[in-house]
Amino acid sequence: MSQQLEVDVDESGVAHDETFPEAIEALRTRRSGHNFDPDEDIDDETLEALIEDATYAPSSYNLQPWEFVAVQDDENLDEVVDLAYGQEHVREAGTAIFVVGHTEPETADRVFEEWVEAGRFDEETAEQVKEQTVAGYESERAGRDYAIRNASLAAENLLLSAHARGLTATPMSGFDFEGVSEFLGLPDDKIPVVLIAVGPSGGEEPERLPRRDVDDVLHREEY
Ligand SMILES: Cc1cc2nc3c(=O)[nH]c(=O)nc-3n(C[C@H](O)[C@H](O)[C@H](O)COP(=O)(O)O)c2cc1C
Repeated sequence: MSQQLEVDVDESGVAHDETFPEAIEALRTRRSGHNFDPDEDIDDETLEALIEDATYAPSSYNLQPWEFVAVQDDENLDEVVDLAYGQEHVREAGTAIFVVGHTEPETADRVFEEWVEAGRFDEETAEQVKEQTVAGYESERAGRDYAIRNASLAAENLLLSAHARGLTATPMSGFDFEGVSEFLGLPDDKIPVVLIAVGPSGGEEPERLPRRDVDDVLHREEY
C-alpha cells in the first residue's frame, strides 16, 4: 500500500506546501485518464495554451530541444490508433500530441547567443560551454538520451497543464516508433518520445493504483 505523506509547515519553513499548495494538489491528483468525451474536442486556444505550458519545462542549457505535433484530423487519428496498436482512447480524446525530441543540438547557436545577450555568460564562456554541449551529443546514444530526458520533462508539464485545465490526458509510449516517425514525416534527427492523448473528460476514472512508499524508493547517500 502506498502511504500519503502529510507535510506541514514547520519552523524551518522548508517542507511546507504553502507557496503553491494547488500545484502540489495538481501533481498528486493527476491521472492518466482513459475516459474521454468522444463528442467534444479541445479548441485551438486550449491546444496552444497546453503547448506553451509545456515549453516552460526545464531543458539542458535551455536548448528547448523539442517539437510538438498535434494530430486532430479524423483520418489521421485513425492512423494514429493503428500505430498505437489499437488504443481506441486516442480517437476518443480527439487530440494526439506527439512530443518529439531533438537528437542533435540544433538550437545551440541561438540559445547560447541568448545566454550572452542576457549577461549570463561572456562570449568566451558561452563558446566553451556551447562546444562542450555540442560534444555531449556526439554519440548516437547520448543524442537519444538528451532527446528523451528533455522531451519527457516537457511532456510532464503538458500533462499537468491539461489536468489544471480540467482536461483528461494520458502519456503513451505504446506505439510503433518507426511507423510514427514516417507518418509524421520526422527528419532523421528527431524522435517521437511520448504520445499524449488529450481531450475533455468523459467522466470518472477508476481508482488510482498504489504508489511505492517513499521508504521504498528513497535511498540516502548510496543505493
Ligand atoms: C512512458 C510511459 C508510457 C505509457 N504508455 C501508455 C500507453 O501506451 N497506453 C496507456 O493507456 N497508458 C500509458 N501510460 C500511462 C500509465 O499506464 C500510467 O501513467 C500509470 O498506470 C500510472 O497511472 P497514473 O498516470 O494515472 O498515475 C504510459 C505512461 C508512461 C510514463
